[in-house]
Amino acid sequence: MAVLGFILFFMGLLSVSASIQLTKNSTPLTFDEAFSRLYGDQNLMFLDEPGTCVQISLNEHSGSGFKSQKPYLYSLFSASIKLPANNYTAGVVVTFYTSNNEAFRDSHDEIDFEFLGHADGTNWVLQTNVYGNGSVSRGREERYELNWFDPTEDFHRYSILWTENWILFYVDDVAIREVKRVDGMRGDYPAKPMNLYATIWDGSGWATKGGKYKINYTYAPFSAQYSDLVINGCSISMDPTHQQQPDCLNAPRFVTNFNGLMPEEIQKMRDFRTKYMTYSYCHNPSRYPTPLPECTIDP
Ligand SMILES: *[C@@H]1O[C@H](CO)[C@@H](O)[C@H](O)[C@H]1NC(C)=O
Ligand SMILES: *[C@@H]1O[C@H](CO)[C@@H](O)[C@H](O)[C@H]1NC(C)=O
Ligand SMILES: *[C@@H]1O[C@H](CO)[C@@H](O)[C@H](O)[C@H]1NC(C)=O
Repeated sequence: MAVLGFILFFMGLLSVSASIQLTKNSTPLTFDEAFSRLYGDQNLMFLDEPGTCVQISLNEHSGSGFKSQKPYLYSLFSASIKLPANNYTAGVVVTFYTSNNEAFRDSHDEIDFEFLGHADGTNWVLQTNVYGNGSVSRGREERYELNWFDPTEDFHRYSILWTENWILFYVDDVAIREVKRVDGMRGDYPAKPMNLYATIWDGSGWATKGGKYKINYTYAPFSAQYSDLVINGCSISMDPTHQQQPDCLNAPRFVTNFNGLMPEEIQKMRDFRTKYMTYSYCHNPSRYPTPLPECTIDP
């Protein structure tokens, strides 16, 4: 009995540390060592000297964005993000996502954090989504209230853990969503190398209450700040003349060997979802009369 108790206690310790150590041994990247500008150059600026804190802005002339220099096949992607504090941000979309749509136009993969602006002066909405191999007609959106802290006042950490068989979304190192690769997903599970992206843009057509509230540039500029950028996993060459063998030499074990969350983490995730989730594609019978195959794991 004592031995069992000890083992359970020990497992408890392990799972706690697993949930809080996601980025612990990862050195934040400077912009120049891992990223390049994507568009809206004039709206991208550095807020510190080595360039570990980047601000991108949206005004009536342009949005802005950056991307990782290299593609990755399975990695942890993480950033501390502070959202625009403007009193009205309807139509504004701030993103942190992985994609390969430049390399695979008709069969791209994507894993998204999208922050959707508000018309009422308060709540940003957080949306997550996954596409695989061009499955753009099968959105896997979920939305959550983002109001248990003020995402515009402080930096909070948002992380995507993408492994061969699991996709995890974390907010401040608490898992909020898991997608397990199941056979029925086929190509819908992202399995080709992707770059990391961060952007801010005008999504007036859909972002706030389905497009009911548009952007109002009287309130511009809208600025999002990213710091503590971490990519920890397997980089890969997109060059087709190279064998596509990911370099996982320095990848942490939770990327190469991830095998699901610990029970305590699952409990925290359930609590989060019960409290804050406002929409899931798994519970939308008018859109998916038969839920998509992976939905069965979280009924
Ligand atoms: C929001 O509105 C309040 C009250 O009008 C004002 O004091 C504050 O500066 C505004 N905040 C921003 C970021 O514009
Ligand atoms: C991905 O899409 C391409 C092009 O549509 C197709 O040829 C391929 O079989 C798909 N792969 C999977 C795993 O479904
Ligand atoms: C934009 O906001 C300003 C200030 O609140 C307001 O006067 C104006 O009517 C708004 N514009 C639109 C198109 O709603």
